[in-house]
Amino acid sequence: MTDAAIAVNNLAFKYGALKVIDDMTMEIESGTSYGLLGPNGAGKTTLIRLMVGLLKPAGGNVLCLGKPPTRSMAKNIGYMPQLPALYSELSVEQNIDFFGRIYGLKDSKKRWERVNEVIKVVDLWEKRKTQIVNLSGGMKQRVSLACAIVHQPSLIFLDEPTVGLDPELRVHFWDYFTDLTKAGHTLIISSHTFDDAAHCQRLAFLRLGRVVAQGTPAELRAATGNKEASLEDAFLYFIKHDEVKENVQ
Ligand SMILES: Nc1ncnc2c1ncn2[C@@H]1O[C@H](COP(=O)(O)OP(=O)(O)OP(=O)(O)O)[C@@H](O)[C@H]1O
Ligand SMILES: [Mg+2]
Repeated sequence: MTDAAIAVNNLAFKYGALKVIDDMTMEIESGTSYGLLGPNGAGKTTLIRLMVGLLKPAGGNVLCLGKPPTRSMAKNIGYMPQLPALYSELSVEQNIDFFGRIYGLKDSKKRWERVNEVIKVVDLWEKRKTQIVNLSGGMKQRVSLACAIVHQPSLIFLDEPTVGLDPELRVHFWDYFTDLTKAGHTLIISSHTFDDAAHCQRLAFLRLGRVVAQGTPAELRAATGNKEASLEDAFLYFIKHDEVKENVQ
């Protein structure tokens, strides 16, 4: 037994005949930020859905907080999906209150205190009475983040949380994510951007459903053999090596 927040062992998943997750193994330590970086179709969203138990593995397994993920874990897990899944006719605060309720915040006074707190975190105080349908795309992202963290889960999955955010808000989000990990929360974050990747304590580079490299940003840069290598250089280096390996097989 380890105290890993997530342990993925030889995980496999298919959509029909398409292998989407192919023999993946990774371990994510509690209280760290872990980035999943990969191009469109690499399998990031599918992997997160397997980790939270929304999809069932075709092979191998996932242990989430030491157990196969089930619905009863919802209180300990926050999940911000890639596409916000909000009630468009309800207001910002009604949506967050709803998610707080289904994630087990029973005491309505305490729940509303927490709703107000997370609305401030995502900087939507002025819009708290506005219906979702009348918000911009970036604002919906922010509500979606608020819904994922309202119940203060120990393990938080964020599927492309910074897409569509302006640069100032991106910095604000990362300050907040860093505070969450310092407070002991585990964050699993998918992204396309190297700016996001550089903020993560550890990273997995994904390609075609496989992990092509894992490590800290510094380790991944150093592995290229070039002292000046950026994270983007490291990513391209590992992707190229994986392509060569695939052609040889
Ligand atoms: N519901 C589905 N039915 C069939 N194939 C799917 C489905 N969802 C995803 N796929 C396929 O699975 C593969 C992985 O998709 P996934 O959404 O996990 O990638 P991703 O890394 O999250 O991509 P993106 O960066 O675009 O969000 C892709 O080839 C995709 O076409
Ligand atoms: Mg995705």
